[in-house]
Amino acid sequence: MTELGAGIAMTATRNVTDDVVWIGGDDRSASIFEGMFPIPEGVSYNSYLIMDEKTILMDTCDASVESRFWENLTSTLGGRELDYLYIGHMEPDHGACIRRVIETYPCATVVASERALDMLYNFYGIRPEKSIAVKEGDTLCTGRHTLRFIAATMVHWPEVMFAYDESDGTLYSEDGFGTFGALCGRLFADESDFESVYLDEARRYYANIVGKYGQNVQTVLQKAAGLDIRRICPLHGPVWREDLGYIISKYDAWSSYRPEEKGVVIAYSSMYGNTEAVADRLAMKLRERGLQNLSVYNVTRVHPSYVVSDAFRYTNIVLAAPTYNNAIHPTMSAVIEDMSNMCVQGRRYSLIANGSWAPRAHKLMEEEVSSRMKDMEPVGEPFVVRSAMKPEQEPELDALADAIMASL
Ligand code: FEO
Repeated sequence: MTELGAGIAMTATRNVTDDVVWIGGDDRSASIFEGMFPIPEGVSYNSYLIMDEKTILMDTCDASVESRFWENLTSTLGGRELDYLYIGHMEPDHGACIRRVIETYPCATVVASERALDMLYNFYGIRPEKSIAVKEGDTLCTGRHTLRFIAATMVHWPEVMFAYDESDGTLYSEDGFGTFGALCGRLFADESDFESVYLDEARRYYANIVGKYGQNVQTVLQKAAGLDIRRICPLHGPVWREDLGYIISKYDAWSSYRPEEKGVVIAYSSMYGNTEAVADRLAMKLRERGLQNLSVYNVTRVHPSYVVSDAFRYTNIVLAAPTYNNAIHPTMSAVIEDMSNMCVQGRRYSLIANGSWAPRAHKLMEEEVSSRMKDMEPVGEPFVVRSAMKPEQEPELDALADAIMASL
């Protein structure tokens, strides 16, 4: 048996509608995204081609899927010219193939915001011969389709512009409504059980990529509320054509920093297992008290993005860390830094600290959380151990578990 060799073209496209074709690609090879976020389920880079009287390409793709994107593009065009290249977002996971498109289709007019055109030069040294700088409210008619442009500033870069197709109700939402996780052929969200297949990764994507810019997302959601949206085509993850209210309500909660549900995320770092033992003990006490929504992360080996994601999801956060060099164990400092950078706020938090001769991680975590994160409410007394928890501390940990349950 032989594999297809390099150079044998294979097309992998799916129709979104009769004249809109998904021509992107899945990447299941890369282990990290943006140089830091683990993507164990891969990621898709979506690109859409509108085959109208004039053809328009809605963004390009990441270099990792260039060969598939290119085959998809050329085969779908089927010898037709590309009339327009729309650039809604200049981040290279969508812009890596722009140069090839412009060089191959020199007659294509580049349509983008002024800032995107500046970035096109900054990233690739390209000043296209034919370009249209569009702004909020401008329209472009390609025949049957008319695209109206919607500024989506800082969702999550400054040049981002959504496009709304007035003729079929499609919102091209760039990174908005995107998710980690390869499509694996499931182009539409309703072709899988989204909650079990994608929701955790959609939340992790939102919280860590877009989470800082909740107010900007709220602004765009308010603009979108006035549109008859029948379909959402993001640049990562599945296309939404049913139950759009579901994903819009998730975005509304995430961007207003409202927890999705009552629950607790316990994040701990541990050097010799003693802090871990306290975190485990607390988890068991919470379970015994009936808590179902509970996640426990060892942050010395789990990427902070998972903790940030569950901090967006749940009402309560428990941070447990050793004192290290008279400071917070660095792995926990990184988690607090990430949560504060992503503007986690309005949560209840409890602290566990360890220290063999001068425990002070609880005081330092308290300072960090209360000074860097808005509207954080402490729950229970900080639980402090010297090297290891003692049996006589059991009632104290029970009291902390009771306080957490009472706060839910
Ligand atoms: Fe998927 Fe902001 O790029």
